[in-house]
Amino acid sequence: MDVPSSSPSFIILLFSLILLFHAGESDLRLNYYSESCPRAEEIVKEEVIKLYKKHGNTAVSWVRNLFHDCMVKSCDASLLLETANSIVSEKTSQRSFGMRNFKYVNTIKEALESECPMTVSCADVVALSARDGVVMLGGPSMSMRTGRRDSWESHSAVIEDFIPNHNDTMPLVLSRFQSIGIDAEGVVALMGAHSVGRVHCVNLVHRLYPEIDPTLDPEYAEYLRGRCPSPEPDPTAVEYARNDRETPMIIDNMYYKHLLNHKGLLLVDQQLVSDPTTSPFIEKMASDNGYFHDQFSRALLLLSENNPLIDDEGEIRKDCRFVNTGSG
Ligand code: HEM
Ligand SMILES: *[C@@H]1O[C@H](CO)[C@@H](O)[C@H](O)[C@H]1NC(C)=O
Repeated sequence: MDVPSSSPSFIILLFSLILLFHAGESDLRLNYYSESCPRAEEIVKEEVIKLYKKHGNTAVSWVRNLFHDCMVKSCDASLLLETANSIVSEKTSQRSFGMRNFKYVNTIKEALESECPMTVSCADVVALSARDGVVMLGGPSMSMRTGRRDSWESHSAVIEDFIPNHNDTMPLVLSRFQSIGIDAEGVVALMGAHSVGRVHCVNLVHRLYPEIDPTLDPEYAEYLRGRCPSPEPDPTAVEYARNDRETPMIIDNMYYKHLLNHKGLLLVDQQLVSDPTTSPFIEKMASDNGYFHDQFSRALLLLSENNPLIDDEGEIRKDCRFVNTGSG
């Protein structure tokens, strides 16, 4: 073989290239816990089902948790940390407004801890519970890779650099997702998560008062004014509108049909139709639920693998709300 004359620098170059490619790929894998905790995925699924039967909206929360955890730097369960010591919880961010059911994450984690102590990361709980939550909500099933580790820090100071606001422009929204490798088609599909759950009046009133946003269906706007009778809603009041009145607990393409009928709730939802980059996908998703589900799975998996912490970059938290004592 004619290797460039036994040059050690060639070997070093080759070796670093291999390392580079290796590092570029995620080190997550399917059935990561097959040896260390063979029932891990089964346990998460059982708990997600039990919780869903008690409080259906837990499944909705698991889907939103994945977005808020993974979008900000890494899928590292930083979202779950409570304010303590030097940590300011991400849950206190304005962007986390309306998030709920965090206490039931602990229920899932406790079930894992009692079978395999200190083995399954909270970041994988976030990912797997979202995966199983999607199924409870009539969405697609996915195989998901695991092996994420948990952060020692909160990213509360930089959340707004990653998670868009309800009234941001579509080019900005697209660029945020682009930076983690999700294209416009994927963004349109992910926003289909807004086919379940609710929006509080504080995020709606600017489209209803003083004038009704002309891009909003007038009859629907009247309905929403009924849900949100005050232009200045008390943020602590539980005043909200459901994302999808027809199939409120199903992740289906009804969301896109509503958008085409000018019944998007948030400004970002409605902009998906008016923006030339995203609008072609809306029609396609509105008319083909299978296509929507395929794209939703593809994009959700990309989101779930954003920059995971591996090996000694993180830990396996015992309690998802706090870093382990003696670490960090
Ligand atoms: C531009 C991107 C996004 C923005 C600006 C955004 C914003 C919001 C806002 C303002 C709410 C309502 C909060 C409230 O008033 O209670 C909400 C709810 C929700 N979002 Fe998003 N979101 C975005 C993308 C996503 C993505 C990618 C997902 C998941 C894949 C997602 C999942 C959810 C879910 C499930 C809810 C309902 C939560 C509940 O009812 O408890 N969102 N979002
Ligand atoms: C977006 O909404 C926030 C309140 O949630 C408001 O403070 C801000 O001025 C709005 N931005 C634009 C561009 O309308």
